[in-house]
Amino acid sequence: MNRPVPAGPADPTELSGCAEKLIRDRHATRAFRPEAVPVDTMRAIFSLAGAAPSNSNAQPWQVEVVSGATRERLAHALQAAHAEKRTSADLPYSEDMYAQVQQVRRAAFGAELYGALGIDPDDHAARAAYDAESLRFYGAPHAAFLFVNGDGGPRLAADVGGYMQTLLLAMTAYGVDSCPQGLLSFYADTVRGELGVTGGKLLVGISFGYADETAPVNRVTTGRATLEATTAFHDWSCG
Ligand SMILES: Cc1cc2nc3c(=O)[nH]c(=O)nc-3n(C[C@H](O)[C@H](O)[C@H](O)COP(=O)(O)O)c2cc1C
Repeated sequence: MNRPVPAGPADPTELSGCAEKLIRDRHATRAFRPEAVPVDTMRAIFSLAGAAPSNSNAQPWQVEVVSGATRERLAHALQAAHAEKRTSADLPYSEDMYAQVQQVRRAAFGAELYGALGIDPDDHAARAAYDAESLRFYGAPHAAFLFVNGDGGPRLAADVGGYMQTLLLAMTAYGVDSCPQGLLSFYADTVRGELGVTGGKLLVGISFGYADETAPVNRVTTGRATLEATTAFHDWSCG
């Protein structure tokens, strides 16, 4: 039997209520407590994330999770690579890839973040120091590195992006806080070398654990563009 079509948002289902809470409760955490995530919780989260969709169900992701001594060793190696300017990004990056409207959103976010940190957005030295410190995973006890398999092209990377969001939501569902850090992907050779990973293209690293709720940086809020600014409904009236 087919499921009945819900009447609409005025008639929310239990599932839509959970989805609203889950998706809207997730946010980037930039200061963590040292407590580890229990192994069983970790396994449940990463098993759930594996349910992410992908083109032809190819699942082109390889996930490397670091904790304990490995995490510590990697944090040192990342900071050394940063200090020696040994960057190695697998996937192209350019400031020019953003349209003007996106640059405006980025500037607004930067003002929020650096305001919470007490850093003047024009103080490039202080911002660089903060970036360097963030390579210690914002103090999180764990980090997950998401590699794109195959040729690492845009369509495969998009699949891994879908995996990333599924993983972030799975973490939220299990009470685990997270921060995706594109910055970590600028040190792909360092990550591969320290973890003995061969091949793949590093898309992003995700720091995770439990938020330090006393840290002002964790009170940063981010808005979103209006629905109309990003989404067009064609033949809406037929819905
Ligand atoms: C692919 C990706 C890369 C990101 N890279 C960083 C990063 O390097 N450092 C950081 O502090 N936050 C990073 N973020 C977090 C974004 O700044 C954050 O998701 C955005 O501002 C929206 O805020 P919210 O996640 O709290 O809703 C990244 C997010 C994504 C999805």
